[in-house]
Formats: sequence, structure tokens, C-alpha cells
Amino acid sequence: MPTTFVPAGPFAGQKPGTSGLRKKTAAFRAPHYLECFVQATFDAVGVQGKVLVLGGDGRFFGREAAGLIMRMAAANGVTRVIVGRGGLLSTPAASHLIRLNGADGGIILSASHNPGGEDGDFGVKFNIANGGPAPEAVTEAIHKASAGVTGYRISDHPAPDLDRIGETDLDGMTVQVVDPVTDYAELMERMFDFDAIRRMIAGGFTLRFDAMCAVTGPYAVEILERRLGAAPGSVVNATPLPDFGGMHPDPNPTWASALYDLMLSDDAPDFGAASDGDGDRNMVMGRGIYVNPSDSLAVLAEHAHLCPGYAGGLRGIARSMPTSTAADRVAAALGIPCHETPTGWKFFGTLLDAGHATICGEESFGTGSDHVREKDGLWAVLMWLNIQAITGHGVEALVHAHWRRFGRTFYSRHDYEALSVRQAESVMATLRTALPTLPGQWVEGRRVAMADDFAYVDPVDGSVSTGQGLRVVFDDGARLVLRMSGTGTEGATLRLYLEAPCDDPDQFGIDPQSMLAPVAAAAERMCGLAHQTGRLAPDVIT
Ligand code: G1P
Ligand code: ZN
Repeated sequence: MPTTFVPAGPFAGQKPGTSGLRKKTAAFRAPHYLECFVQATFDAVGVQGKVLVLGGDGRFFGREAAGLIMRMAAANGVTRVIVGRGGLLSTPAASHLIRLNGADGGIILSASHNPGGEDGDFGVKFNIANGGPAPEAVTEAIHKASAGVTGYRISDHPAPDLDRIGETDLDGMTVQVVDPVTDYAELMERMFDFDAIRRMIAGGFTLRFDAMCAVTGPYAVEILERRLGAAPGSVVNATPLPDFGGMHPDPNPTWASALYDLMLSDDAPDFGAASDGDGDRNMVMGRGIYVNPSDSLAVLAEHAHLCPGYAGGLRGIARSMPTSTAADRVAAALGIPCHETPTGWKFFGTLLDAGHATICGEESFGTGSDHVREKDGLWAVLMWLNIQAITGHGVEALVHAHWRRFGRTFYSRHDYEALSVRQAESVMATLRTALPTLPGQWVEGRRVAMADDFAYVDPVDGSVSTGQGLRVVFDDGARLVLRMSGTGTEGATLRLYLEAPCDDPDQFGIDPQSMLAPVAAAAERMCGLAHQTGRLAPDVIT
């Protein structure tokens, strides 16, 4: 047999989180580390005779990792690996390829929006046959298997050339290198009215898409510039680089500040958008206006029927619990259900599979639908373009009309990063302990209507998820939510989500932070975040 078993144990158990296993790149490059984790994944899911999709966001170590994983796949009896040229696949494109080819699953090499490079982060995520992230039962099985790993099987042959499209054999396994963009671009052509968008752009509509030197560059150039006719150069930072050109590829006002500032300047094009490292997040702006992701979900849901892929209407909307309730009001107007799930895209999978929801989103710049089982940055951009092309209204007009019809839901998220785990847990404990005493109390001019530790029962498979964030709702619908991040790689991050609905058009122009200051003050009174951590202001505000 041209394969070797490399003894490497004992391998400390590794539990993938909501977004796979994410660590410093150096950790993954330590001798046998990546290999042992991949062997644990293969052992847990069983890959003999299976077809897998493989690709990543182009970050440092991705190509090397893809080579190792292909050699391991061959040695573990995989029949076929479908891999993006150069090892590249955006997360939504990988999800699509799994579904399109009826593959048994896929491995995505990415740490999403975390910085890349030798000193940055790396990640490995396993997706299942529906194209979505592995559910808890699968990540648990990987965790269990990882504790028992004593080594790994790997082919002695070198990995095939990833830059040549076509099929090659690796120890009896077929390696199929595909263009990473083509199938995804065709899916988008079916979902959206490309003719209408092309006409709008030919008529002088201008746009800028910031790919942040990450994976969406080639996708955006092909779709926005080549197929839709946006001027060459409309896509900036379009070449994926191993260290993202030193950028932090997270599309929000802080990290995509170049685009944000441009859109609020006199030189702004009609439309601006950015995506993250692996292409699943999006930030959307119009000339002079930033659209918060919760509003974006609500506006997209309101107008989805204008896009060919959703002409039959939506069956339901799903949003993560901390995402604002703006989408709930749209769902009520459309007479469809709005599901409230824990944070993390995997919770949408069962709802999409069962047809309970068509469109879904998170406040963390994630929007998507049942076309794949991941959030999808470019999809959101195209949906905004399609809606503008059909209505003839720009982003600002659409958002303002939305507020006039449904009210404005003021919203903001305050992140406190790199706290010590002890500090963060103590802040959580303070609020958790107070929860039962809060209903009926007046805090900062508002009366608490309800307070709980969010738990979720999946309506499709009945699985229960507890401890998904502390939630306090006031009589007027204002809310605050406190939860600990599950994706950080340094210490602990606390996220405080603030929300206040408002029906008075005279107040729509107020700065969200001013509008939300009393809710933030109420949070401080209840959990003592600043008091306990000494942090007087959040590190990131979105
Ligand atoms: C963050 C976001 C969450 C998203 C996840 C993966 O997780 O808040 O909405 O699903 O990244 O992109 P967190 O760090 O809050 O656990
Ligand atoms: Zn991402």
C-alpha cells in the first residue's frame, strides 16, 4: 500500500466550535496537529467510499493544508475530492458545490473574518451533505474521536497540482480540480434578474465592492464586472492574498473603514459593499447611508418577491436571537412565521431543510437563504442590486420607506474583546443571577417585561440548546442581550446587543448610539460590565 500510518498520539481532544476548529496558524502547523484533527474528523464521520468537497479562503497555510488533506483522504478511502482551483472556494460556493454534486460533505479551510498569515488564525470546518456546518452531534463525535487519535493515515504520493482544472488519480481516489467561481455564478444568475441589474448599471448606476484581499475577489470580478458590466476596478482589493494584505477582512464600519468613509463622502458611488475572508458575510451601504445587518435582513425580506428566485414569496424568516426584531414586523405583515434561533448559522439548517424558512440572517453581517446552507455575502449584494433595479429606488430611499412602514429599530452591538475568561464569566453571572428579580423593575426609565437565559428547542428535530444568551426585554419592545462569543481565539469576548424600536418619524434621524444610551446604561446597572472589567468603552461598536 502506498500509504503510511504516522503515529502521533496522544492527541489532546479538540472540540470544533460553531464555526469549526479555529486556532492560531502556528498551532495548526505544529507537527501532526492538522493531520490528527482531520483524522479525527474522518474517523467520526466515516469517509470510506465518500465524495468530499475541499477548498478555503486562500489564507496562509491553506494550500499546504489542502495538499495534506487530499493525501489523507486518499489513504482513508475517499472516492473523490472536488477541490477549487488553487485550493480556493468561498464558504457559500463550497456549500453550493456539496449540494450540486450530491457530495457527502466538505472541508472548508478558513478562519472567516479573523486575520490570516503566519501569525494570524487558521481554521478547519466540516460541512455535512446538506451543505451546511456540522450540527452539534457531529462536532461532538469529532471531539470524542479526537481524544482517541493515535496517528493518521496519509498517502506517500505528493498531492496533485491544484492549479490545473481536470481530474487526476491519487492512490485510487479521483481529485477533481474545478473552477471555484463558475457553478456559483450560474446559481446567482438563476436567482436574480441579471438583465435588469445590467440595464441599471449600463444606465449609469455606480458601485464599489471591497473584497478585502480575500476570497470573494474572483467571484465579484466575474459576477459584478464581467457578467453585470460594472466598470473595471469597481471591485477593489480583488486578489486573495495569504495575509489578506495585512487587512482584517471583517466587513463592518471599523474594519472596512475605507469603504465606509467613501460611502459617506461626496465621491460615493450609488452602492457599496464588502465581504469577509471566506465570503459569507456582507456589509451594505448606499450613498450616505450605512445599513445595519438587522435592517438589511428586514428590507431584503420585504422585497424578496421582486427577485426571480423568490417570486413565489417566502415561507418564513429566521433570525438569530440577538438580531433585531425588525424582520419580525416584516414577517407579521407578510403573514409568515419568524423563527428566533441561537447564534450560529447551523441553527438555520434544519429550518431551511424542512421549508420552515426561506431567508435568514444574523446581526453579525450574515444574510442568506435556502439556495445554500451557509450565509452568503455576494448573494446579499446581488439581492440589493436586484431590488434597486426593479424598484428604481436607491438604498437610502428603500431603507427610509421601510422605516416609515414598519418603524425604525435602533440597534447596536458593543464588543468587549480579550477580557479574561474569569472577568467575562463574572459579568455573565451577575446578570444571570439577577434575571429572576428583573421583571416589573424600572431601570433607566423603562420597565422590564421579561428576562431569561435563552434556550431553544429546534422545531424540526427537537434538539435542545440551552445557555444561548441572557435576554432582557422592556415593555416598549426595547431589548438588551448579553452573551459570550464562541469564536474568539484570545481570552473571552463579551457581546452586548442593544435595541430600541421607534415609530416616530421625527426621531428616525437620531444617532443610534444616543438613542440606545439608556438601554446601555440599563445594561451596566444590571451586569456591571464596566465596573467589573474596568473597560469604560467597547472595543468595537457595530
Ligand atoms: C460570531 C457571530 C455569529 C456568527 C459567528 C460565525 O459568533 O456573532 O453571529 O454566526 O461569528 O460567523 P460569536 O463570536 O458571537 O460566537
Ligand atoms: Zn466568514
